[in-house]
Amino acid sequence: MSLLEEIAKRRTFGIISHPDAGKTTLTEKLLLFGGAIQEAGAVKSNKIKKGATSDFMEIERQRGISVATSVLAFIYKDKKINILDTPGHKDFAEDTFRTLTAVDSVIVVIDVAKGVEAQTEKLVEVCRMRNIPMIVFINKMDREGKDAFDLLDEVEQKLGLTVTPLSFPIGMGYNFKGIYNVWEKNINLFSEESKQHITETIAFDDVNHPDLEKHIGEEAAETLREELELVYEVYPEFNQQEYLDGQLQPVFFGSALNNFGVRELLDCFVDIAPNPRPKESDTRIVDPQEKKFTGFVFKIHANMDPKHRDRLAFIKIVSGIFKRNTPYLHVRNNKKLKFSSPNAFFADKKEIVDESYPGDIVGLHDTGNFKIGDTLTEGEVMNYRGIPSFSPEHFRYINNADPLKSKQLYKGIDQLMDEGVAQLFTLELNGRKVIGTVGALQYEVIQYRLEHEYGAKCTYENLNVHKACWVDAEDESNEEYKEFKRVKQKFLAKDKQGQLVFFADSMFTLQMTQQKYPTVKLHFTSEF
Ligand code: G4P
Repeated sequence: MSLLEEIAKRRTFGIISHPDAGKTTLTEKLLLFGGAIQEAGAVKSNKIKKGATSDFMEIERQRGISVATSVLAFIYKDKKINILDTPGHKDFAEDTFRTLTAVDSVIVVIDVAKGVEAQTEKLVEVCRMRNIPMIVFINKMDREGKDAFDLLDEVEQKLGLTVTPLSFPIGMGYNFKGIYNVWEKNINLFSEESKQHITETIAFDDVNHPDLEKHIGEEAAETLREELELVYEVYPEFNQQEYLDGQLQPVFFGSALNNFGVRELLDCFVDIAPNPRPKESDTRIVDPQEKKFTGFVFKIHANMDPKHRDRLAFIKIVSGIFKRNTPYLHVRNNKKLKFSSPNAFFADKKEIVDESYPGDIVGLHDTGNFKIGDTLTEGEVMNYRGIPSFSPEHFRYINNADPLKSKQLYKGIDQLMDEGVAQLFTLELNGRKVIGTVGALQYEVIQYRLEHEYGAKCTYENLNVHKACWVDAEDESNEEYKEFKRVKQKFLAKDKQGQLVFFADSMFTLQMTQQKYPTVKLHFTSEF
């Protein structure tokens, strides 16, 4: 098969949702359709239910499994589908943001009763900013929930999307009868059996046909006709280009748990979802069809198996063909590396592969060469963009609790930071180390992992910081910048890349500083 054909076959996407909306269930049902797993319950949930650390530790124990679920691949209708897992818990949102740099489209899952929730808003905003094509799946139609039109309004208003329903529910909850598939023009009737089987659909080009009553009863038929009329009147006609440009978002309804409406979603998805898309680097835009291989690291997982100190870097292939045992340039280190056992991921296993194509994810065994965001090429010097660090919201000093293990501690911290678990800052004044995180849960995770994976112990000490911002000045020799650095010396630190960071203890300080030193620029992400 040619490179072009391989590219045309690939669909790499992520499922995003607020925890509990049904992401894991939907993933599992997609895998069932793809024949990638044989029974429900095979996909381990990696979610943290009540934000409890114990859940996270449990997940850590199952890392071997949960990492297999980081990327799930299967073939459906001759398309290679790659699902990238995205943690739903807000403390791990950064991990999800980074994964979103490696997807070509997303499916957004929304709970019909809860509607648009906080985490959905945040994640969709990131996708919207990047014009990532999105399909919305309204889940749990077997339960009482919000009116379909109200929900569509909510999705438009809260998420800033322009939607068009490609399926429409017939009733809901106790009265849920099925869905009308606007895309394929047929009706899929809901029954309890659909859990086990893929249900038969009834073609219905014309909902005005009197047979409709036979299938769903008079009342439901009348309501459906009225509602569909409204749908055609109010919502724009589906247009694939608009969807691909991130300007229009098709909506499907269903019940993942009951395996209902999932096939419709998947069939439409393989038809309309994008192939691997071109990606911007710091020098140019790279097209997947280019012959030369390029790719970037979007995720690192260390110590999946505590017995073998392994570390896996996940690479998204952007262009060309990635080949085993071929030297590639690690751009940041200016070093050639070759990989004898690159892993490809399937739903239930990982396998060594000889060749991978744009859209695919390969896992490379890493001995500490990689950091998130690193670019690999055949020799071209360029870096893929789009994985900024976000300004952390929690700050603590980290202290070594076992002086005999300081080497282990620093190695552990170093590696965990490379994985992107948190950010490390070193105070300019006294060299003390500060860990900044997006969520409070990370501190426990770091402590646990330092102890269990590196044999090191740490303690924390609170630090009163409201926000950390990256600092730069138009002209570093200017007097104002020098004065800023002198006056604020106590509040300055360096991040791991050696960039200057300012710790503001309150919103007020931040504002005052900005007013007093207008030429000093304060940034809330590391990429500026
Ligand atoms: P998440 O990954 O987005 O966090 O959600 P997950 O799939 O784990 O689903 C959250 C809960 O919602 C689960 O119940 C799941 O069974 C349920 N659920 C998912 N889809 C549907 C649906 O279509 N209809 C109904 N009624 N429920 C659905 P749980 O009790 O939290 O977990 P479990 O004990 O069933 O695993």
